Amino acid sequence: MNRPPVAAAIVVLIVIGSVVASGPRESGDAPTTQRQSVSPPLVTQLAQVSVAEPAAQPTFVGRQACLECHPDNYRMHGHHGHATTFRSASDPDVADKFVGKSFDAGEPFGTYTYHSDDQGIFARLREKFGDQPFRFQFALGHKSITLLSLLPDPVEGTVGLEHRVSWIDGPDHLGKTPGQRDETLINAAQLFGNPHHGKVMHKCVYCHVTTGEIVGQEIKNLTPNVNCEKCHGPASEHVRLAKASKTPPPFSVGRSDWDTESEIQLCGDCHRLPKDVSQKQLRDYPDLLTRFQPVGLLRSECFVQSEGKLKCTTCHNPHQSVSETTAAIQVQNCVACHQQDSQSHVACPVSPTDGCIDCHMPAFQLDGLGTSFHDHWIRVRDDQ
Ligand code: HEC
Ligand code: HEC
Ligand code: HEC
Ligand code: HEC
Ligand code: HEC
Ligand code: HEC
Ligand code: HEC
Repeated sequence: MNRPPVAAAIVVLIVIGSVVASGPRESGDAPTTQRQSVSPPLVTQLAQVSVAEPAAQPTFVGRQACLECHPDNYRMHGHHGHATTFRSASDPDVADKFVGKSFDAGEPFGTYTYHSDDQGIFARLREKFGDQPFRFQFALGHKSITLLSLLPDPVEGTVGLEHRVSWIDGPDHLGKTPGQRDETLINAAQLFGNPHHGKVMHKCVYCHVTTGEIVGQEIKNLTPNVNCEKCHGPASEHVRLAKASKTPPPFSVGRSDWDTESEIQLCGDCHRLPKDVSQKQLRDYPDLLTRFQPVGLLRSECFVQSEGKLKCTTCHNPHQSVSETTAAIQVQNCVACHQQDSQSHVACPVSPTDGCIDCHMPAFQLDGLGTSFHDHWIRVRDDQ
């Protein structure tokens, strides 16, 4: 047998990989978006310019610290997708989905098999590399799960490799990761995953964690998942002041300068804003834009004609998962404005009290993604 060891092959070949793959790169998550810089959450930026509290620079204290005084939000958030969107691949809830299974990805890849230990999930391509395993450290996603590995890269220091197979929230489960590019396949490591470099790699982690920076092949200072303080900013001062007084000063979304625009920027930082998609896509509005809810919402007459009254939290409790929100509540959200005998808003001539979402915000199943997405461009549709 004359098989190259995987590790050696990767080190040699990755040099070629990082040179050849240095053209325009795209995130596997958003195949057609433009790049944007990694910025701190908006609330953190606001916290930094606030002059109200000359006290110590606030630090992150973790979501556990919120339980005592905000038990309802704490519990709801625990069931939200935000609370499990970045895990160690060795987490049993993740590992159990891969271990013992195999997936034939066809040429040029072959059949992946999996095992795990406390270091992560290990994939093998037996036909090519025998028993040599390839390790994935991290698992992104809640319902659908993609594995990620950080590897040394001689040019850029680190490359993020997104596994070519994902757990898809659908009937077949293991499937090809959406948005993968085969054409740049030029090294052994890329048989296991699609490479991401630089800003794309950093942003991939940024959107799925509360704190953490990629340093070498590790994530330093990691607080996984989209937790309370990702949206509200570091809360040590708030906790200190709330323990000292039953009426702590305004914090985060309680500040007077927090408005609809602040919220759209906060949610849109991860769920995407119009600036993150191309001009052509904005014109054509293909179905895949339903994945980027703020883009649709911002072009809805409901938003445009509401003078700042309509925002994400008009319909979403930001702490409560959509899976825990009933259809009745969603209709209520619409009817709050579109009442039948209201002077200020028009009502539906077809169905004034029921079924709004199916007709005006239908769900789309996108290729290869298990979850469906509701078109947030609320409108009377041609297909109705
Ligand atoms: C730091 C990035 C980030 C920010 C900021 C963010 N989200 Fe999310 N959101 C995510 C990610 C990642 C997921 C996918 C979670 C998963 O399933 O793995 C998600 C999922 C969701 C879901 C579907 C999952 C569920 O359980 O309901 C809703 C609804 C949602 N976000 C609404 C919001 C709203 C509203 C805001 C603003 C108040 C917001 N998000 C801000 C990253 C973010
Ligand atoms: C700009 C922020 C952003 C970036 C960059 C990003 N994601 Fe996401 N990701 C999200 C949001 C928001 C969602 C939830 C909505 C969706 O599925 O589009 C999500 C959803 C997911 C899901 C599906 C979760 C589910 O429950 O169905 C996976 C898997 C995932 N991302 C992996 C990745 C990987 C791997 C990368 C990097 C290569 C990445 N993401 C880059 C924001 C981001
Ligand atoms: C995805 C972003 C996001 C996350 C994560 C998040 N929040 Fe919030 N939170 C918001 C927004 C936006 C508002 C303002 C809602 C409004 O204007 O109606 C808010 C409001 C609040 C409020 C005041 C209103 C209320 O519901 O009592 C509290 C308290 C709060 N959050 C605590 C928490 C705690 C505790 C956690 C974690 C367990 C958390 N939040 C996680 C975005 C978030
Ligand atoms: C010792 C009690 C205590 C702890 C711990 C605490 N809070 Fe609060 N928080 C309060 C009180 C009291 C208020 C004001 C009344 C209210 O809205 O419930 C408040 C309000 C808020 C608000 C609304 C902002 C405003 O000005 O109205 C947010 C957001 C918030 N807390 C987030 C958090 C987060 C995130 C944590 C955990 C990191 C946390 N809190 C921990 C007591 C606490
Ligand atoms: C904050 C108030 C508000 C909410 C909530 C709201 N809308 Fe609207 N919507 C408006 C306004 C304002 C218009 C412009 C017409 C008018 O003045 O009523 C509008 C227009 C519309 C139109 C006509 C669009 C067009 O292109 O002509 C439809 C359809 C619609 N809304 C459906 C919905 C549905 C369905 C929901 C719930 C998912 C909803 N709206 C929630 C304020 C709202
Ligand atoms: C007028 C009401 C309304 C507004 C405003 C709204 N949403 Fe939604 N959203 C919905 C409904 C209805 C669903 C479908 C819920 C379900 O699956 O049961 C949904 C679902 C979602 C989901 C889950 C994936 C999907 O598309 O089905 C995400 C993520 C989301 N919304 C993000 C946002 C963000 C971010 C904003 C603000 C830019 C926002 N929404 C504003 C009504 C709204
Ligand atoms: C069976 C599909 C269906 C359902 C269910 C439905 N609508 Fe409509 N809606 C329509 C159609 C079709 C039109 C366009 C009617 C026309 O132009 O004559 C419309 C028009 C509207 C308009 C614009 C009215 C105007 O005068 O410009 C609003 C607002 C609206 N719907 C809101 C809602 C709300 C809110 C709900 C839920 C309570 C709802 N719709 C349920 C199909 C539906």
